[in-house]
Amino acid sequence: MTATTAAPRPGGTDDAPTTDFITFDKVGKRFGDNVVLDDLCFGVAPGERVTLIGPSGSGKTTILRMLMTLTRPDSGVIEIGGRPLFHERRDDELVPASDKHIRDMRSRITMVFQQFNLFPNMRVLRNVTEAPIHVHGVAKDEAEERARALLELVGLRDKLDAYPAQLSGGQQQRVAIARALAVEPDILLLDEVTSALDPEIAAEVLDVLREVARTTDVTMLCVTHAMRFARDVSNRVLMFSDGGIVESGSPEQLFGDPQHDRTRRFLRSVLDEA
Ligand SMILES: Nc1ncnc2c1ncn2[C@@H]1O[C@H](COP(=O)(O)OP(=O)(O)OP(=O)(O)O)[C@@H](O)[C@H]1O
Ligand SMILES: [Mg+2]
Repeated sequence: MTATTAAPRPGGTDDAPTTDFITFDKVGKRFGDNVVLDDLCFGVAPGERVTLIGPSGSGKTTILRMLMTLTRPDSGVIEIGGRPLFHERRDDELVPASDKHIRDMRSRITMVFQQFNLFPNMRVLRNVTEAPIHVHGVAKDEAEERARALLELVGLRDKLDAYPAQLSGGQQQRVAIARALAVEPDILLLDEVTSALDPEIAAEVLDVLREVARTTDVTMLCVTHAMRFARDVSNRVLMFSDGGIVESGSPEQLFGDPQHDRTRRFLRSVLDEA
């Protein structure tokens, strides 16, 4: 593992590093000639909130999709809680994992996408109860009770019976957040979850996520251009470019005093956009 941490991380100090909950060890991914990730190494501590920034095409979504097991790395090993995600250990050797292992590993990892991706044919309540009941075997009554509490948390208690198409974009995204939390995830992945929304609506969704960050200990990896939100919730920011991490640090360090020209140029372009 290569240490890329510049900032203190929860649960540990610089002289006594915590055991990472998520590790990427020399992870490589290419699409044809396009090398997206080149021997990428980084770790995320349990309960840590990490923001991923970087130019379009730098591999941010690819990293989240790998953790969701939607994309496989070409090389290297990803571990979660000390267990390889795509491999199993047999006689001290790593072999490709069975589908069952992969399903087990990803069952407590959830992702919220830019385009909401709700189940269009299911009402709001059922969108939220579907995975707990059918993937985790939670009893219907219990799943519904928890779903109601989560829909209350995201401010949608009065929309339980609506279909996604009857909701605004911001409301749909808040359902998607409730749905992601319903499986009591260890890891919550957020991929530009507000970039399809008007600024005012985006602010409401970010407030919901601030509340999630404040009230849970879920490990969060978040791709976002919302810098104030990133400052508020993240322990660490990773700047990606050219197949790897260019720079990492606390939000104060990275946004306030970036060390690399690539980071400075990227941050300027994001500010110009805003
Ligand atoms: N299924 C695929 N087939 C071919 N190329 C792909 C595929 N998925 C991703 N890529 C390429 O991999 C690179 C990284 O894509 P990725 O979506 O991870 O970037 P990103 O950092 O999330 O960018 P953005 O900020 O635009 O969302 C891009 O060049 C993209 O075109
Ligand atoms: Mg992306």
